[in-house]
Amino acid sequence: MNFVEANGAKIPAIGLGTMTLMDAVCVDAVETALCVGYRHIDTAERYRNESEVGEGLRRGLRAAGIARDDVFVTTKVWQDQRAKHIGLANFTIPLLQEAVKLASEPLVTNQIEVHPFIDQDKVTAVCRGYGLAVTAYCPLARGKVPGNEVLARIGETRGKSAAQVALRFLVQQRIVAIPRTPNPDHLAANLAVFDFKLSDVEMAEIDKLKQARMRVVNPPHAPRWDN
Ligand SMILES: NC(=O)c1ccc[n+]([C@@H]2O[C@H](COP(=O)([O-])OP(=O)(O)OC[C@H]3O[C@@H](n4cnc5c(N)ncnc54)[C@H](OP(=O)(O)O)[C@@H]3O)[C@@H](O)[C@H]2O)c1
Repeated sequence: MNFVEANGAKIPAIGLGTMTLMDAVCVDAVETALCVGYRHIDTAERYRNESEVGEGLRRGLRAAGIARDDVFVTTKVWQDQRAKHIGLANFTIPLLQEAVKLASEPLVTNQIEVHPFIDQDKVTAVCRGYGLAVTAYCPLARGKVPGNEVLARIGETRGKSAAQVALRFLVQQRIVAIPRTPNPDHLAANLAVFDFKLSDVEMAEIDKLKQARMRVVNPPHAPRWDN
């Protein structure tokens, strides 16, 4: 397992995304993930599965014979609740400052949407300027990556899938990725991206897949994007 280092933290470069994973599916996915080698789990209070993630962690730690400190766990506060709590109407700079004050650990990563079809070079450079890592959410573009012909062709020569090529493309740029799946085969496949390397020519070819307006997450409260 490769790591991305930032602000003193070592973040496992592949984590398990858990958005939409509920009940026993979520518990089983987290437990299986730890057993096959994941050491990074992503959840949020908004996903309403923090308890199930916790139960999956308890079972997974026991089954894998590892300690809680071996696993990097991310959760997120939802803006409305935090804003209400400190008397603000919406997500603002004071809200972020308040959240940072409450955090027991230094901030180490900024989570943004990144996959091979979206250009996040500008924000990535800014994050790194502050010593922060970048974590890619929706790294498989919610299913658009697996059917991509360029990624599939590049993977074919090595027996890798389009999804694995996309994840390799990200981790090779020191971007952490948190693909979501409860499927045991996909869980294992998404972790098997550290035994091959994309050439500069292949990286450049994948880079050309970037286009404007390729976001899959674009809620009404999002900022005005510059790409
Ligand atoms: N901070 C934020 O604002 C934010 C926003 C969105 C998401 N997130 C986080 O990022 C995580 C990932 O994003 P996401 O869940 O939206 O989408 P995603 O990971 O880009 O895509 C998930 C889809 O990919 C499929 N998949 C996974 N592995 C595969 C493989 N090896 N081969 C083929 N298909 C595969 C899954 O299907 P199967 O189930 O069939 O495997 C699922 O349909 C979330 O779960 C959440 O933890 C954060």
